[in-house]
Amino acid sequence: MKTPVILLTGGSGRLGTELRQLMPDIIAPPPEAPDITCPETIRAAIERYEPNVLIHAAAYTNVAGAEQEKEVCWRVNVEGTRNLVSAICGKNIFFIHISTDYVFAGTKGMYREEDVPGPVRNYYALSKLVAEEIARFASEHLVIRTSFRPRQWPYTVAFSDVYTSQDYVDVIAPDIALAILHYRDIPYRTLHIAGERKSVYELARRRKSDVKPGSKRDAKVELPDDISLDTGRWQKLKQEWSKKSS
Ligand SMILES: NC(=O)c1ccc[n+]([C@@H]2O[C@H](COP(=O)([O-])OP(=O)(O)OC[C@H]3O[C@@H](n4cnc5c(N)ncnc54)[C@H](OP(=O)(O)O)[C@@H]3O)[C@@H](O)[C@H]2O)c1
Repeated sequence: MKTPVILLTGGSGRLGTELRQLMPDIIAPPPEAPDITCPETIRAAIERYEPNVLIHAAAYTNVAGAEQEKEVCWRVNVEGTRNLVSAICGKNIFFIHISTDYVFAGTKGMYREEDVPGPVRNYYALSKLVAEEIARFASEHLVIRTSFRPRQWPYTVAFSDVYTSQDYVDVIAPDIALAILHYRDIPYRTLHIAGERKSVYELARRRKSDVKPGSKRDAKVELPDDISLDTGRWQKLKQEWSKKSS
């Protein structure tokens, strides 16, 4: 089978940078990367590269900032996704949309793919939930819900009262790259790719031993109690693929 041409949005971001290193053939050269708020640049990129797969990892990701910058957050996350989905309509391009654990309420934890999302906790989460639903209009698509941190824990404090299955981006990105490589073998439209459930403080301590425990009460934005994801589907798929290849 022909190697697919893969175009990436958000190639300069945390996840995009890792994906470009893991998948050197991926197309995401910054000057030619489309501005997703501008349909013309998207059309030009699609005409130029004729991708088989479009990975959408570009987003406005400043969770606290989104509370003040609602317009830009909406334009990038919602309208940007709509522009991409419109541009690939009828073109036989597989759309992989990178989404977030934040689409869930974050009360019960261990959310499964089929759980009903919301009510969301903040504006960023709202924009990502709407974007997810727009992504589902692409005729061939996969929504990957994930959660990650930069390679190093950047703060002196980490919340011990927020539970998550997020991990560091260099731990998560190889799994996302694997899912992209196997996109034809994934029999689902939604997939959770994340680590195991733990507190944010526990995660922070893995890379910053002197980090102090803090509380989400001190955050500038409303945060969930337990936003962890059930990743059973993904674990099973990985096992099946590794059995097949051994
Ligand atoms: N970080 C997390 O904790 C987290 C957790 C769960 C899910 N996610 C999702 O994972 C994906 C990647 O997140 P990330 O943390 O890697 O993002 P990031 O580091 O904040 O990078 C955002 C990327 O989006 C690009 N971008 C922003 N506005 C754009 C526009 N108008 N047109 C084209 N590109 C634009 C940026 O390009 P410039 O550099 O040129 O601005 C950058 O490449 C996003 O969908 C995010 O919602 C992130």
